[in-house]
Amino acid sequence: MSFESSALPGNTAPAAVAGADLETRALHGPLPTDKELVLKVIPMPRDCNANGDIFGGWVMAQVDLAGAVLPARYVDGRMATVAVNQFVFKQPVRVGDILSFFAVVTRIGTTSITVQVEVFAERFQAQGRHIKVTEASLTYVAIDDAGKPRKIVKP
Ligand SMILES: CC(C)(COP(=O)(O)OP(=O)(O)OC[C@H]1O[C@@H](n2cnc3c(N)ncnc32)[C@H](O)[C@@H]1OP(=O)(O)O)[C@@H](O)C(=O)NCCC(=O)NCCS
Repeated sequence: MSFESSALPGNTAPAAVAGADLETRALHGPLPTDKELVLKVIPMPRDCNANGDIFGGWVMAQVDLAGAVLPARYVDGRMATVAVNQFVFKQPVRVGDILSFFAVVTRIGTTSITVQVEVFAERFQAQGRHIKVTEASLTYVAIDDAGKPRKIVKP
């Protein structure tokens, strides 16, 4: 797919168009088939850092929410994030990107569940093409009313 300047908003610089085109050609790929789509969200200007990209802490918060979706099916109640085992920001996230969060359970322990999350962006001007922007592994613990770990009973 190439970007014709006539098809883009009037104030888009040609250099930016070429950059977007190069990025999507080089990095876009298929979405995971071994993970479940658990969240979609579009970052807004209020979520930016001083560079004009989306603040990493905002991305981490969304990943934390997305990662909790599959464990929620097992714990049937309260849980808490105990660890972010790995977190990689592979590509910047930008205002207007459509972000898709895919997750899979990688370990079920006695009281904890570990999840792998991958985040893909459809760029504002290249929707339908997915670029992996973030991957992470998080562990959640089922907790009781006192905030103490409790056994996960569902298989
Ligand atoms: C989550 C919490 C209740 C766990 O209590 P704890 O006394 O540390 O629990 P334990 O040591 O018995 O470990 C509980 C489970 O967590 C796992 N766990 C503990 N620390 C871990 C770590 N650093 N990485 C991965 N897993 C960990 C244990 O392996 C265990 O899993 P298992 O029962 O499946 O084997 C407690 O640490 C807590 O309240 N933390 C704050 C949670 C929170 O506020 N999260 C939001 C942060 S923004």
